[in-house]
Amino acid sequence: MTIVGGALKALVCSFGRFWLIIMLVAIGAAGTWRSGLTAQASIERGEYIFHVAGCLTCHSTEGAPPLAGGHRFDTPFGVFISPNITPDKSHGIGAWSEQDFMRALRYGLAPDGRHYYPVFPYTSYTRMSEQDMRDLFAYLRTTEPAARPNETHELVWFARSRLGNRVWKALFLDPGAYQPDGRRSERWNRGAYIAEALAHCGECHSPRGVLGAVDGARHLSGNPQGLGGDVIPNITPHASADVSSWVAVDYAAYLSYGEMPDGDYAGGMMATVIDEGLSKLTETDRAALIEYLMTLRPLPMKGARP
Ligand code: HEC
Ligand code: HEC
Repeated sequence: MTIVGGALKALVCSFGRFWLIIMLVAIGAAGTWRSGLTAQASIERGEYIFHVAGCLTCHSTEGAPPLAGGHRFDTPFGVFISPNITPDKSHGIGAWSEQDFMRALRYGLAPDGRHYYPVFPYTSYTRMSEQDMRDLFAYLRTTEPAARPNETHELVWFARSRLGNRVWKALFLDPGAYQPDGRRSERWNRGAYIAEALAHCGECHSPRGVLGAVDGARHLSGNPQGLGGDVIPNITPHASADVSSWVAVDYAAYLSYGEMPDGDYAGGMMATVIDEGLSKLTETDRAALIEYLMTLRPLPMKGARP
């Protein structure tokens, strides 16, 4: 009896162990499957951020693979040339850690401690949430690596030292993620986040001071001397601004396919901003952005009569 009992017990035990192992394997597989799903979701969210934040245009140029850099920016300080941000290990950012990437966006700092020039709009990207930065990095890692070497900026002598950027950042960079305004709705705050942290409307639509920093006191009131010398329109609801007569559906048409109330279409840089970015906003996000824009403090354009 005891022999049979012992054998039975051993059988039950090994049978139990068998099921235990099966269960553990199943849990493990489900876990991997789930983390595979979360990784995929992160990449998809990252792709969305990538478009709304407008990384593509600045980091691409005709005749070169996307994101391999080479875009030239003519400024009063000389020509800046964007770097390769593909996952290529030697020419792009393929050897970067997620931490390196977040430091670049939050603090304008390279992995080797160099201070970036603010043509790379990290003064806006610093407002991104940590999660959005992680997702963006996850997406960038899935893009096609390109072995295109970086070019050196062609700058006037006094702008060549990156130490100047350090001083500039001490004056004008206020690092940190967007802090919601508790007096406003969640939707308004989402709109503010899209405009300020991601789509960096102010980099073009706000005037700049002598040192090239965006003038926060004249937020989105237009730039009389925009990139390339163009006047960039005032997008606050001030009586002197065209948008002051726009209603929500006018904004919606413009920000999704560029059509203005008079039937004309957005041109130049704004056409690109819409095509590459704003047209891809979800309905909810676009509505949030519109709510934010329509409640901006009305300001006249710099130099214009109040
Ligand atoms: C307005 C143009 C512009 C936009 C928009 C822009 N960048 Fe850049 N970026 C630059 C320039 C120019 C530099 C080089 C800065 C320097 O040399 O100091 C740069 C530098 C970088 C670097 C550092 C690369 C290196 O090799 O050190 C990274 C990473 C980067 N950008 C990622 C992004 C991401 C991600 C986005 C979108 C969220 C983005 N950039 C949007 C112009 C832009
Ligand atoms: C890279 C520069 C740039 C960025 C970034 C940018 N804009 Fe513009 N925007 C322009 C230019 C240039 C025009 C004028 C377009 C034209 O001449 O058709 C314009 C026009 C507009 C207009 C039409 C105003 C009018 O009076 O005709 C609106 C509204 C607008 N932008 C909203 C935005 C919003 C909102 C954002 C951010 C989500 C944004 N823009 C980001 C450059 C930019």
